[in-house]
Amino acid sequence: MKPRIGVLTSGGDCPGLNAVLRGVVLAAEKLGWEVIGFKDGFEGLLPPGDYKILDRYSTDGIMALGGTIIGTTNRGHFVAKIGAGDRAVVAEEVIEKARKVLGELGVNALVIVGGDGSMTTALQLQEAGINCIGVPKTIDNDLEATAMTFGFDSAVDVVVDACDRLHTTATSHKRVMVVEVMGRHAGWIALHGGIAGGADIILIPEIPFDFDIIAQTIKVRDSAGHLDSLVVVAEGARPRDGQQVKRDTDSGEFRLGGIGDIVAREIAARTGKETRCCVLGHLQRGGAPTTLDRILGTRFGVKAVQLANEGHFGSMVSYQNYQVRHVPIADAVNRLRLVPPNGELVQAARDVEIGFGD
Ligand code: F6P
Repeated sequence: MKPRIGVLTSGGDCPGLNAVLRGVVLAAEKLGWEVIGFKDGFEGLLPPGDYKILDRYSTDGIMALGGTIIGTTNRGHFVAKIGAGDRAVVAEEVIEKARKVLGELGVNALVIVGGDGSMTTALQLQEAGINCIGVPKTIDNDLEATAMTFGFDSAVDVVVDACDRLHTTATSHKRVMVVEVMGRHAGWIALHGGIAGGADIILIPEIPFDFDIIAQTIKVRDSAGHLDSLVVVAEGARPRDGQQVKRDTDSGEFRLGGIGDIVAREIAARTGKETRCCVLGHLQRGGAPTTLDRILGTRFGVKAVQLANEGHFGSMVSYQNYQVRHVPIADAVNRLRLVPPNGELVQAARDVEIGFGD
């Protein structure tokens, strides 16, 4: 039997996952290995094992597809993270079941494509003796130990496109348009999308805001003759004296969202201007990956196979200084990579007259 490598995609889907799968398959086939794609994230590892053989034919033409051809979930038996900083331990018997399935299928190494929660699970599997290689994925771009994750660029592209479209309505109606974007506890999507989309105000979790200051910025713009304004607000942003807006607290898990409507309401009340909110939501996770995400995904997939071949188990593919390298998975978990509030990017935004409501 050929040596076998397993791969699974875990957590929220994003553009570029299929590029990784294709990269893994083609690099593995070059070594004479067979690739097993476990379905629906870690759940596919549960007995009897839910998987399909991935080869050059089943991965042909998938590069341009959003999502993942083997499915994913951010729920289930292996969820090791239940909220910001809150950790749950994957049950010992669940890990044992996974180990048994991998053993029966002759899988020597498991490539886990996911975000911080999935890397936390990967670390637990590795510590339990299962050979794991991590591949960093998330539109939020909040993973430590890598300068970038694939999926982020595609999500930002959606935000920029939305901003371009909303600008014309804002200008025509002399309105304030508020766009709520994803990113969980990190403001990367809002910051990059807002700068590239020509936002006038960007609200991010790392810089708590004040409604009066936002209103003041809009009034100053009005007095200067700019009668429309575009506000990009990250779903995790919060007022200085307030909390993040959360919903769906079933099973200890929460989702962020709803701050956009609140910001729009407060702006309208404080400025008297017609204000509308547009929530981009899961549009940011769908569709074809950008060129950058296709290339990053391909390189990450190839690197994961190389790491498995060299026996670098317990490591995660990492993007640093334009090079694809690797770091211990442990370096990527337990803390998030957030926007430095006084960093160069925020300062550049301020220098082009973008307000942060602070
Ligand atoms: O982590 C990716 C992400 O899209 C976040 O930006 C967002 O808060 C969350 O996932 C949404 O998760 P779900 O798809 O479960 O609603």
